[in-house]
Amino acid sequence: MAKLIAIAHQKGGVGKSTLALNLAYRFSKEVKTALTDTDPQGSTMQLRDIVEGIDILEYEGTSSLKTKPYDVIFIDTPPYLIENMIPLFLASDFVLIPTKAGVTDIMAIRATIELVKEAQKKKPELKAGIVLNMVKPRANITSEAKKELEVFDLPILAEIRDRVVFNNTFLSGGISTGSDQQAIQELEQLTKEILNLL
Ligand SMILES: Nc1ncnc2c1ncn2[C@@H]1O[C@H](COP(=O)(O)OP(=O)(O)O)[C@@H](O)[C@H]1O
Ligand SMILES: [Mg+2]
Repeated sequence: MAKLIAIAHQKGGVGKSTLALNLAYRFSKEVKTALTDTDPQGSTMQLRDIVEGIDILEYEGTSSLKTKPYDVIFIDTPPYLIENMIPLFLASDFVLIPTKAGVTDIMAIRATIELVKEAQKKKPELKAGIVLNMVKPRANITSEAKKELEVFDLPILAEIRDRVVFNNTFLSGGISTGSDQQAIQELEQLTKEILNLL
């Protein structure tokens, strides 16, 4: 059965779709990987005819996804809390919550985390992790953000910095095919951590 990794945060623009695609490319080097989006109008589905080297599946619910011949399927979600978020989390093996380090982003993360916690009560084996994305090279802001996030008692995974490579290298292979070695390194680290937790 395929393991499902849902990527969620009710706020738009925190990097859900960007990380979904780049992680899917990176994971595909290790295990058989696909990508989907609960929102048929979402950016991941719009990329379907453009990107190469990764299978982007139509979303037909989690039960059908689990039977697909993949080891891992990333599920991108829209930037609002869909009402069936809890069933999605309950069907998932891992929920990845990307966030920016800004005050409003951290405030907005609470709603998503509460849903994850609610799902974990019913399904204790559900794993989750927060990833600070688009981190600016002002470390004090990030450490403050981390302090705010620690109260939620979820693993805070490898952080991804704000890098132009994410805006211009995605159509075939993601940032791993680009020349930004530090970005590649960060993605490697994040991949390793998620694989370890899965
Ligand atoms: N680490 C990063 N560094 C620079 N830009 C990023 C990074 N992650 C995402 N972006 C950019 O931020 C914007 C929003 O990302 P997106 O993945 O669409 O967010 P979401 O899916 O959460 O709405 C996009 O323009 C994307 O290219
Ligand atoms: Mg998106």
